Amino acid sequence: MHVPPRPSVRELHGLPLRVFVVDSAPELAALLARELVDVVRGELAANRDPVLGLATGRTPLALYAEFARLVAEERLDLSRLTSFHLDEYLGLPRDHPASFRARMREVLYRRIGHPDERAKFPVECDRTEGLDGACADYERAIVESGGIAWQLLGIGLNGHVAFNEPGATADSRTRVVQLSESTRRANRPDFGPGEEVPRRAVTVGIATIRDARRLRLVALGRSKARIVRELLHSLVSSAIPATLLREHSGAELWCDAAAAGEPHRD
Ligand code: PGA
Repeated sequence: MHVPPRPSVRELHGLPLRVFVVDSAPELAALLARELVDVVRGELAANRDPVLGLATGRTPLALYAEFARLVAEERLDLSRLTSFHLDEYLGLPRDHPASFRARMREVLYRRIGHPDERAKFPVECDRTEGLDGACADYERAIVESGGIAWQLLGIGLNGHVAFNEPGATADSRTRVVQLSESTRRANRPDFGPGEEVPRRAVTVGIATIRDARRLRLVALGRSKARIVRELLHSLVSSAIPATLLREHSGAELWCDAAAAGEPHRD
């Protein structure tokens, strides 16, 4: 029998959060995609509709590709799945390719046949009115779904989670936010030449994220090594919003070796 090599994963101890380091980004993606499949199966087995919290950005791309592959290979039933998303830009035309709804369709939903009605975003990116009401409705929709079983999160270079930029508080909920220059610069490649990166977005809050049962923070690549170090070694503070998730009992940080600051592995 062919036994596939065990991916090299190790837990780091003595840190204020459970931390797992995996040698390579593809191995990390495979492990979390497997966990995601298991979460969906577990929720169905418990006769609950699976409710996932998903993230956009570059970090989850390989994970989504692997999840889509497993869904097809194992004929996983996603008909009861609802996905909630962390954030969405404001000020883009509907269906702009950089909107998070369009991105999620492209990188995951068209592959797994997940329909728009069950992919929830805090707002549509062209919405201009009734934003406060939309934010309150989104919070209510998450609660009414039964709550998020498994929430995936990237980490911004400045420590943001979703679009909770430095200064966001632990009790924050879904709201309109201004994007920092650092975030706008990081997301610049998603926009065409001469196109403005939006200045505003709607994001879930830190308290919204902390309501999820399991949190999976993921950091990949050398560019994230500094913020990973700060996340693990700074005081809990709004200056680095990701630190506000450290005390969540179901939180784990997953890094590849480069993001964990291990040399010569990028
Ligand atoms: P990234 O974004 O996955 O593209 O690095 C993470 C974030 O800004 O939250």
